[in-house]
Amino acid sequence: MKLRIGTNTKMYMTIAQTCKFIDDLGRLTADIDREEAEIFVIPPYTSLDRASEIAARANIRLGAQNMCWADEGQFTGEISPVMLKEVDVQIAEIGHSERRHVFHETDEMENMKVITALRHGFTPLLCVGETAEQKDRGQAAETIRSQLTLGLKNVSKADAEKLWIAYEPVWAIGVNGTPASPDYAGHIHGIIRSILTELFDKAAADKIPILYGGSVNPENACKLIVQPDVDGLFIGRSAWDAERFNGIIRDVLNVVNNA
Ligand code: PGA
Repeated sequence: MKLRIGTNTKMYMTIAQTCKFIDDLGRLTADIDREEAEIFVIPPYTSLDRASEIAARANIRLGAQNMCWADEGQFTGEISPVMLKEVDVQIAEIGHSERRHVFHETDEMENMKVITALRHGFTPLLCVGETAEQKDRGQAAETIRSQLTLGLKNVSKADAEKLWIAYEPVWAIGVNGTPASPDYAGHIHGIIRSILTELFDKAAADKIPILYGGSVNPENACKLIVQPDVDGLFIGRSAWDAERFNGIIRDVLNVVNNA
């Protein structure tokens, strides 16, 4: 499967910083065949309009960090899929751990967003992952099973092939996170693939890229990507410098191509 590698810049970077970052990343990765590696950036909403032309030129797919399930309406503070279409966004990130745990989004809300994203032709990037407490209680697999079952409710087999999933254990994310060991990530990715197979079928499940995210860095990226069922990386802090991100992309591609 083609490698998917990208970053969510969270609530960092101004419009000017985002545009420069995407432009630099495009230049640095210009020789990388996008059939081998799909590179994506998911910046704050305010940057999307200005960044979309630059991203298109740079051959970088652009995503939104969140999206309302309704096309329009009385939803103060939300951004609709119609508005995101207008600025040429291709990926809709849904259910990042900060959305779930800081803003209390539920699986039912994530499900409505997944359905809406598919209806509008976005690539839904649904994030799942257990908390430290759930992991310690031995409930990682059951947590992820319920996030996937509820989050992907009413998604057809045909639409399933358009999904991307990110496994982002809550305890691995951010400045206080500890990266998942490659073995553990591989183990959970295998569980995710088998849940997707149960929900759809093997042919559909095998087409869904499962990305790992949570404290990916230049030291662990290659060890993570060689794990079975790890089809890509979803990176925060370590990708926010274009040179550093370019280095990770090239290291990972090298490993994948020589595997
Ligand atoms: P991090 O963020 O790489 O900075 O841990 C990952 C994420 O939140 O997607």
